[in-house]
Amino acid sequence: MRSLIDILDLSPAEIDELIAKANDIIANPVKYAEKCRGKKLATLFFEPSTRTRLSFEAAMYELGGSVLGFSEAQSSSTAKGESVSDTAKTVSCYADIIAMRHPKEGAPFVAAQAASIPVINAGDGGHNHPTQTLTDLLTISREKGRLDGLTVGFCGDLKFGRTVHSLIGALCRYQNIKIVLISPEELKVPSYVKQTMKKNGIEYSQTTDLEASLPELDILYMTRVQRERFFNEEDYLRLKDSYILTPAKLKNARDDLSIMHPLPRVNEISVEIDDDPRACYFKQVLYGKFIRMALILKLLEVE
Ligand code: NCD
Repeated sequence: MRSLIDILDLSPAEIDELIAKANDIIANPVKYAEKCRGKKLATLFFEPSTRTRLSFEAAMYELGGSVLGFSEAQSSSTAKGESVSDTAKTVSCYADIIAMRHPKEGAPFVAAQAASIPVINAGDGGHNHPTQTLTDLLTISREKGRLDGLTVGFCGDLKFGRTVHSLIGALCRYQNIKIVLISPEELKVPSYVKQTMKKNGIEYSQTTDLEASLPELDILYMTRVQRERFFNEEDYLRLKDSYILTPAKLKNARDDLSIMHPLPRVNEISVEIDDDPRACYFKQVLYGKFIRMALILKLLEVE
C-alpha cells in the first residue's frame, strides 16, 4: 500500500510511466472506463478547492469508480475536535483511496500513517502539492516534448505557493534545468527549496523584475499571492498586485513561451492573454484530470 505525500515519493521513471499512462488515457479513454468499477475515492478537503477536488472526482468517475467525501472542515467531525488520524482510520473503512487537502503542513502525512488505504496529498498548507506537479509535468511534456533543458521562471508568491515548492523539487531531477525566481523580497522561496536546488547543482537566479527575465524563459509559471497564509491583511494588500502579466509585458517574450498557472487566478494574468497561443493554464486544468486518473490506477495497483 502506497501513498503520495511528496512528489519525490515517485522516482523519475515512475513519473515517466504516469505521463505515458495519462497520454494513453487521453488517446484511448474508452479502454479505461471500467478500470475502477466498485472502487471508491474519498475526497477529504479541509480547505477550499475547485480544480483539485473536482478533477479527482471526475477522474474517479471516468474510471468507472465512485466518490464520497466532504469539501469543508466545518461539515466533518473535525469541527467536533476529531484528529486527522482518527478521520483517516474511519475513512479507511469506507473507501479504497483518499485524496486529502489540509491547511496544516504535514497533515496528509499524518493521515497516511494512520490509514490502511493509500493517501494522496492534495495540498498541505504552504508546503507541497504533488498532484499539481504531476499536472504541470504532463503539461510541460506535452507542450515542449521534453522535461530536460528548460529555463523555467516562477513568478509571484514563491514563499507560500506550495505548487512552486513541489514543481521545483521535481525539476531538480532533470538535466540542464535553469530556474529564475521572480518575486517581491518578502515572498522569496523558503531556504529549504534553495537548498534542494543547490544540492542538485541547479542553476538559479532571484530577481524582482519580471519583464527583464521574460526573454530567456521557455516556461513562465505565474502564481497567486496566497492571501490565506498571510499573518496580516495589510501585507497582503501591499503585495497582491506585485505582478500582473499583460500583452504589453509579453513583448519581449519568446514565441514558444508556455505560460502556466495552477489557478485560481486573481489578477496575475490579464484575461486578454487567455487567447494568446502561449497561454496553457486551461490546458493544465484538463491534463490534471488525466494524470490523476493515471495516479489512481497506479496507487490502487489496477492493471
Ligand atoms: C493551487 C493550490 O491550491 O495550491 N491551486 C490548485 O490546486 N490548482 C494554487 C493556489 O491556490 O494558488
